Amino acid sequence: MTSQQQPSHPSVSQQSSRQTIIAGNWKMFGTAESTRAFAEEMVRDPRLAHASGNGVGVVICPPTPLLHVLRPFCGTFFELGGQDCHQNVNGAFTGDVSAGMLVDAGCRYVIVGHSERRRYHHETDDVVAQKTRAALSAGLTPIVCVGETLEERQAEQTADVVLRQLDVVLQAVSPDQQFVLAYEPVWAIGTGLVATVEQAGEVHQILRKFYRQRVSNDITILYGGSVNATNAKELLAHSDIDGALVGGASLESRSFLAIVEATGV
Ligand code: PGA
Repeated sequence: MTSQQQPSHPSVSQQSSRQTIIAGNWKMFGTAESTRAFAEEMVRDPRLAHASGNGVGVVICPPTPLLHVLRPFCGTFFELGGQDCHQNVNGAFTGDVSAGMLVDAGCRYVIVGHSERRRYHHETDDVVAQKTRAALSAGLTPIVCVGETLEERQAEQTADVVLRQLDVVLQAVSPDQQFVLAYEPVWAIGTGLVATVEQAGEVHQILRKFYRQRVSNDITILYGGSVNATNAKELLAHSDIDGALVGGASLESRSFLAIVEATGV
């Protein structure tokens, strides 16, 4: 870590390339009614206005058909994100959405390379890299997910896996195209098995060092995997963890806002 450039806590870094971000990934959950109630609770809560007014990026990534429900509420206190986009601008790809369509729907972010997409939709590192490029071309900020499986961790391949996943993306984008990285150990997603601060911090440091060497700049790196209102504070206090990508605990405004509050901003 280059301490002369780096604040000890990542909150609202002086460097524009690092930002505190709390992003909610709703996966395939939610109805129009529950979404509206969530948004109303969010915008009423002073913690959200306080955090976003002080530079915390709050992002909600609902299923695509629910984007329109959140859209009237977003922009001031939180932003919208998609959960995936296709790598092509348009075409005969039934069921897919393009990055441009997400922009039209009010999104500023999109998650790419989530382990559930890699696993259930067989997305390769190359496809993830193409999606990242497509998102950037459309003007979205991609949240690029990397992470190892339990077997890979046990075989001590964690660093190799996450750096390979990042490297392929870096080869596809130019150094001035900024994205957000999310370290999500696959074994910690939806399992209640959160990585320890030491485990998460170590991988964040490895990723940050590699990125800085390759791009001569810094990057926002979120941790994801069973983040909740109880463990968020300790994770977010680590100087290399800039924020969180939250699944289950983002479905209720109460637990999600507690994580926003845990940024300490
Ligand atoms: P989780 O999901 O918080 O439910 O573990 C995180 C994610 O998949 O992004």
